[in-house]
Amino acid sequence: MRTLRTTALSAVAAAALVASALAGSTSPAVAAPSPDLSLTHVTAHLQQLQSIATANGGNRATGRPGYRASLDWVKAKLDAAGYTTQVQSFSTSSGTSYNLVADWPGGDAEHVVMTGAHLDSVAAGPGINDNGTGSAAVLEAALAWAASGNTPRNHLRFAWWGAEEQGLLGSNRYMSTLPTADKDRIDLYMNYDMVGSPNPGYFVYDDNPAGNGARDAMTAYYTSKGIPWEYIDVQGRSDHASFRSYGIPTTGMYSGGEVIKTSAQAQKWGGTAGTAFDPCYHRSCDTMSNINTTALDRNIDMIGHMVWLYADKDFGTTLPPTTPPAGANLLANAGFESGAASWTGTTGAITSNTGRPARTGSWKAWLGGNGATSTESVAQSVTIPAAATAASLSYWIRTDTAESGSTAYDTLKVQVVSGTTTTTLKTFSNVGTSATYAQFSHSLLAYRGKTVTVKFLMTEDSSLQTSFVVDDTSVTSS
Ligand code: PHE
Ligand code: ZN
Ligand code: ZN
Ligand code: CA
Repeated sequence: MRTLRTTALSAVAAAALVASALAGSTSPAVAAPSPDLSLTHVTAHLQQLQSIATANGGNRATGRPGYRASLDWVKAKLDAAGYTTQVQSFSTSSGTSYNLVADWPGGDAEHVVMTGAHLDSVAAGPGINDNGTGSAAVLEAALAWAASGNTPRNHLRFAWWGAEEQGLLGSNRYMSTLPTADKDRIDLYMNYDMVGSPNPGYFVYDDNPAGNGARDAMTAYYTSKGIPWEYIDVQGRSDHASFRSYGIPTTGMYSGGEVIKTSAQAQKWGGTAGTAFDPCYHRSCDTMSNINTTALDRNIDMIGHMVWLYADKDFGTTLPPTTPPAGANLLANAGFESGAASWTGTTGAITSNTGRPARTGSWKAWLGGNGATSTESVAQSVTIPAAATAASLSYWIRTDTAESGSTAYDTLKVQVVSGTTTTTLKTFSNVGTSATYAQFSHSLLAYRGKTVTVKFLMTEDSSLQTSFVVDDTSVTSS
């Protein structure tokens, strides 16, 4: 029988074993108190992004050198702080773009808490509020975490997305290429896009009330600081949508953009009624002077609070509810009302052009109608829940043509791409058009547990237009 000899050395080793076992299986007894993130540091990060824009033609846009320079700079800071960083490159119609993903070593790999911001600007300007503020705030939260010496219960991951301004391309790419098992490990994604608007509001994302409690934790934080807040349904307008479409809980904060502040909002938040929350939204004047430092200071502390709180959150031992509720639409921006957001394919096919009616709202995907040789498509990837007992793709379509006769010259194929296999579910053509919307549905049950791309692919021959107008799409499961 083995006996335990207690020497000074083995006692230390035993204590270390106990400590590491505890670290692996239980949370700290008390969550680390929220940090006071440094406005001075965040302002210095913003100045760095401004300098990068100034040195690179005045912007940090996708495909322009100022984007890569921004990414390289953020990456160097994270590498120096001890993060494990990864750069994911992908091509866009504006050039190559990149995501930067930084993991803090340790924490429970089965429970991942992600915080992200898009790092790209539009081409018109340096993008200091949109989205230097979110980028700098998330960077400072990551650096402050590294400096804190805290050991998180959960695994912390931070991300800076490319090509958000082209339609959430970076976050969509990250999610569509992330293995299903890794998607299932993400318990929360928090998004920060525009958090220092010059005429600020405090808008908390309300698209995903479940949000693993994060939405309510955020509003409770603002309330505790005496800061009035409002909910906003941001739909597909920022990168959280790429996560939400896989059923991952999300939340986020937005301090307002092109929309005009009402007098009621000016009364509770101060600032100027009748003026946009950010009059320089997507303009060359989105510079260092386009920031409200009070709002920025409050919001970085909120972001720090959320990261610290969720670093130690007990998500329980059961798997997170990543299976979306039965009947939920798994497609993001399914009625196209947020323009091209969440969809890939032909620029301009998703349109509010009134030449053809939308079925609902004013946006739709108008494929074809050129009367010239052309190929156009719109597509979105979606994961069919592994536990689904039913799953279907539905959409409404309206067709009209200048062709006649019974030969199919122009076609629209409704396809599912799974890996390297493309399956055509239905082909529409110039034959049998009906200038009125009709709904079609196809089962996707064969793809349960898989991430597939739903695609509408149009081919038109050299003359006589056919218009295939698609609206109000959905993928649902039960
Ligand atoms: N994503 C938008 C942009 O970058 C800004 C935005 C964020 C709008 C959140 C609405 C809600 O232009
Ligand atoms: Zn923008
Ligand atoms: Zn933005
Ligand atoms: Ca629509």
